[in-house]
Amino acid sequence: MPLIFTQRADAWLRRIGVGAFTSVVLGVAGLYYYAPPEYTRVGYAPVQPVPYSHELHAGRLGLSCLYCHTGVEESSVAKIPPTQVCMNCHQAIKSDSPLLEAIRVSWQGGGPVRWERVHQTPDYVYFNHAVHVRRGVGCVSCHGKVNEMPVVVHDKPLSMGWCLECHRHPEEHLRPPDEATNFAWQPPHGRNQREYGLTLKDQFGIRAPETCSGCHR
Ligand code: HEC
Ligand code: HEC
Ligand code: HEC
Ligand code: HEC
Ligand code: HEC
Repeated sequence: MPLIFTQRADAWLRRIGVGAFTSVVLGVAGLYYYAPPEYTRVGYAPVQPVPYSHELHAGRLGLSCLYCHTGVEESSVAKIPPTQVCMNCHQAIKSDSPLLEAIRVSWQGGGPVRWERVHQTPDYVYFNHAVHVRRGVGCVSCHGKVNEMPVVVHDKPLSMGWCLECHRHPEEHLRPPDEATNFAWQPPHGRNQREYGLTLKDQFGIRAPETCSGCHR
């Protein structure tokens, strides 16, 4: 084999090579440990026991988010609707569809449908839907365009940095509170989001917590 590098250089290159390899392995392992897929969850879209489509029900049929997620305006949790809510319609509509099998089993005493959880903050984080929704933060700011999703996809990181970014500049997201579930909402004609958001921020005296104890209680 022809000598391309001097022996000294070769020894160094090997060391650097091994070092680089080790740091890549450790880096990947570290990333996996600190940021497993459940944590960098953007894009996560588990298969559900029933292929329920928001794009159909909340989009094309125009059902309000509040029809099913009854907790968003008054409690910390949004809530997933019980089988009864589906049966309000599906006792009559498509009542023998094979796609609704798990709903029928549940309805006939099989216990609640086991929906797969999509969004989940860790136990040590305090989060409350009502405080956001009642202050005019729309579902779209934190969940993306759910009304266009045939399958719910985790659209935003829900990481600490992401929460803080909005807490520092909520004006980029504020809208009148009664428009929180309106996915077609736009700032009034001739006004931009930022400037209109600042007006709302003043009007409601909005101060979102930036101190550790605000979110870690
Ligand atoms: C007819 C009832 C119904 C309506 C209306 C509805 N949803 Fe849902 N939603 C569900 C069900 C059932 C699930 C659980 C299954 C799934 O994730 O698809 C769910 C799941 C979700 C999730 C994910 C929950 C998790 O596990 O993290 C979000 C976010 C959500 N809905 C937002 C919305 C928004 C925003 C609207 C209004 C545009 C809306 N939903 C309208 C029934 C409904
Ligand atoms: C307000 C009435 C209404 C409610 C409430 C409702 N649906 Fe539907 N659903 C419909 C309509 C209308 C269709 C479309 C039927 C068609 O394609 O002809 C449909 C279609 C479906 C389909 C597709 C069925 C097929 O064979 O194509 C599934 C699955 C479904 N709904 C699940 C659910 C679940 C789960 C819930 C409760 C979380 C729910 N729906 C609540 C009205 C409703
Ligand atoms: C400020 C951000 C934010 C807004 C605004 C928001 N959500 Fe959420 N949502 C979250 C977070 C964070 C979670 C995970 C909560 C947890 O782990 O306790 C979540 C979870 C959910 C869930 C899962 C079930 C539950 O109760 O935790 C549903 C359903 C949901 N959101 C629906 C909605 C709907 C509908 C709206 C609009 C009316 C909305 N969200 C507005 C951040 C938000
Ligand atoms: C899109 C903007 C936005 C995002 C994203 C957001 N928040 Fe907020 N948050 C607000 C606003 C606006 C308020 C209301 C401040 C007020 O009432 O003055 C608020 C208030 C709060 C409060 C105070 C509640 C109370 O009871 O005083 C907590 C805690 C909080 N947010 C936690 C979170 C966490 C945790 C996340 C991330 C998972 C998050 N927020 C993401 C805008 C946001
Ligand atoms: C606006 C809400 C908010 C505030 C304010 C906040 N945190 Fe967090 N913090 C979170 C959320 C949400 C997570 C979870 C992140 C995740 O699941 O990826 C988190 C995670 C953490 C973690 C876990 C480490 C990690 O990266 O997973 C630590 C430690 C932490 N926060 C410390 C702090 C300290 C110290 C402060 C004050 C300087 C603070 N937090 C302020 C929302 C907040």
